[in-house]
Amino acid sequence: MSRSYALAAAVLVFSGCWCICAADVGDFAPCLQFFYKSWPPKGLAGTPICQRYFNQYRFATLYSRPRRSPWFSAYVYSAPAGKRPTACWKFEPQLAYPGAEGSMIPFPPGPVDQNVVDSQAVELDYINSTYSRGHMNPSLHHQSHEDRAATFTLTNVVPQKAGSNDGPWEVLEWTINKTLEAYCLGEAYVVTGVIPYRIDERWLKDHRVAVPEYIWSAYCCPNYNNSLPEELKDAFPTYAAIGRNDCNSSEEIVPVSQTAKKQFRGYDVRQMPLETLEVYLKDRFNTVVSVFYEQCSGSD
Ligand SMILES: *[C@@H]1O[C@H](CO)[C@@H](O)[C@H](O)[C@H]1NC(C)=O
Ligand SMILES: *[C@@H]1O[C@H](CO)[C@@H](O)[C@H](O)[C@H]1NC(C)=O
Ligand SMILES: *[C@@H]1O[C@H](CO)[C@@H](O)[C@H](O)[C@H]1NC(C)=O
Ligand SMILES: *[C@@H]1O[C@H](CO)[C@@H](O)[C@H](O)[C@H]1NC(C)=O
Repeated sequence: MSRSYALAAAVLVFSGCWCICAADVGDFAPCLQFFYKSWPPKGLAGTPICQRYFNQYRFATLYSRPRRSPWFSAYVYSAPAGKRPTACWKFEPQLAYPGAEGSMIPFPPGPVDQNVVDSQAVELDYINSTYSRGHMNPSLHHQSHEDRAATFTLTNVVPQKAGSNDGPWEVLEWTINKTLEAYCLGEAYVVTGVIPYRIDERWLKDHRVAVPEYIWSAYCCPNYNNSLPEELKDAFPTYAAIGRNDCNSSEEIVPVSQTAKKQFRGYDVRQMPLETLEVYLKDRFNTVVSVFYEQCSGSD
């Protein structure tokens, strides 16, 4: 424990982007407000992280220690304002030191503590790999600077092909922003997660960070404007999508458009009802996965 305090102190003193930020590990109880009806998704097993930054809970992540990446992150959407923060990447000391004071802290400029390296992804895993850092909870879906900066933690990130991250997946994030901003009247709860390969998992570095085959996202906005335009009739109260993260995957789940720009070809996103997403999740995880309480059907 004293080592982690020393580590945190060193980081605060020497890092160029220091911050007093915090995160809790092991229980969603302190951050249930990020789930519709305080009900975290059912069917997926992992390590819950209540992501804390500047002494406030910002979102929630179900982390997979063996994969060194999240199963999903859950957050409440708010209309973005201002510019994307400069990336100051952080890690979760409590994954390395169970007794550590809860605090998401920036990576030090030099070598990283070996217990941190063992317990989670570090920047070196992504540097010079063929994958970019794909946010589960994107900074684009938040208003305050602190909420946006808090998304730059590697516990909120999976290896994502640039063809997806800078292409169809980014378009999906814009589309969700536009739809929710225009027609969601109350809270919008969003969960974004991964679908692993069925066989032959891919990894960054030597079995360090698992690469997902697909990325999915779903929102639940129970209180919305009923005067929806025709093209958004199916988009409320809940809607979902799955995006390809491997241009060579088969086309059963998400077909490939041959007219997409070359750098984005094979990274299509397919929008679909929540029930359809849950069929694919059940098939891949071999268990029923429920993203929202009563499939977001309840009145609020
Ligand atoms: C990344 O690749 C560049 C160019 O090959 C090399 O100069 C650099 O040292 C590499 N960085 C790391 C961290 O491996
Ligand atoms: C989010 O959507 C709103 C409403 O369409 C739009 O005005 C705004 O520019 C969008 N923000 C971003 C960052 O795309
Ligand atoms: C609902 O949408 C309609 C059509 O876009 C708009 O005229 C109306 O002001 C909206 N109502 C609310 C409560 O936002
Ligand atoms: C897709 O397959 C081609 C041909 O086998 C290969 O060159 C390429 O690296 C593969 N791409 C990915 C993202 O696996």
